[in-house]
Amino acid sequence: MPRGLILAGIPGTGKTVLVKAIAYELGIPLAILDASAFLRGVVGETESRVKQIIAILESLAPIVVFWDELDAVFQPRESQLSTDSGVSRRMLNALLEYLGRTDRKAFVIGATNFPQLDKAATRPGRFDNMFGIFPPDYEARKEVLSIHMNVIRKLPINEETQKKIQETIASETFGYTPAELEQIVKNACSIAMDEDKGKITLEHFRAAKESLGVNIQTRIQEVETMAKQLSTIPNVNMGFLKESLIEFGSGKDKDKTKTIIATLPDDLRGSLKAL
Ligand SMILES: Nc1ncnc2c1ncn2[C@@H]1O[C@H](COP(=O)(O)OP(=O)(O)O)[C@@H](O)[C@H]1O
Ligand SMILES: [Mg+2]
Repeated sequence: MPRGLILAGIPGTGKTVLVKAIAYELGIPLAILDASAFLRGVVGETESRVKQIIAILESLAPIVVFWDELDAVFQPRESQLSTDSGVSRRMLNALLEYLGRTDRKAFVIGATNFPQLDKAATRPGRFDNMFGIFPPDYEARKEVLSIHMNVIRKLPINEETQKKIQETIASETFGYTPAELEQIVKNACSIAMDEDKGKITLEHFRAAKESLGVNIQTRIQEVETMAKQLSTIPNVNMGFLKESLIEFGSGKDKDKTKTIIATLPDDLRGSLKAL
């Protein structure tokens, strides 16, 4: 049974949103591990703090543990983990030991902006698989725009115009991330408000898109580089994310997670955020 995976994708591609959505859909409680916060050792702290956190996570299983920004800790420099950022080596080792434990019950999802991580993170047995999360295709861009125009904001635009805007903007935003599509919707609203004509039009969306200044050549290179790097890493699997999590099972105890986290001492609570 898979016990962990890594999502690799440039910022804004929806890694965090994806983890939250899957945990929510499956009814599995989700704990977000703010690793850089608790690995930054304070005087007097030891790896026992990490062990406490691990014990809590295991007691909550089935649970999805989300370790965001793996690259902050596991930069592939010469051979050293990035302990110069103040990360305590002993605490990190305790966490790595946990990731490699065959009896680990929590499902750990890591996210990184770069596929190339220090071997300490990707050693067999720690995470089972790495997935590339790429910018959305045309259909998905239409959907993302629609979510931000209709669900998150309820823009006063008639259905026919909405459809036209979504199709046009989606066809002009190859390579854009969901985060940037959201920004286009936001900026279009402010541009329209500034003009004060009481109407949001396609032209506002186009102006909003221009105001982002995304360099598409750079973006394509960035994404191609990532795809190339991914292709050199063993265990890269594009299709098994959902299956892994479904196999992992559906815990129902969101409330339990919240309750336990609420009763933790302040310093530990800071390292775990329940949803
Ligand atoms: N599937 C999606 N549908 C709609 N909007 C999305 C989706 N995925 C991401 N977004 C938007 O993009 C923003 C950034 O997503 P996020 O998950 O934080 O990216 P990442 O973690 O990869 O940097 C989110 O706040 C959300 O507005
Ligand atoms: Mg994120």
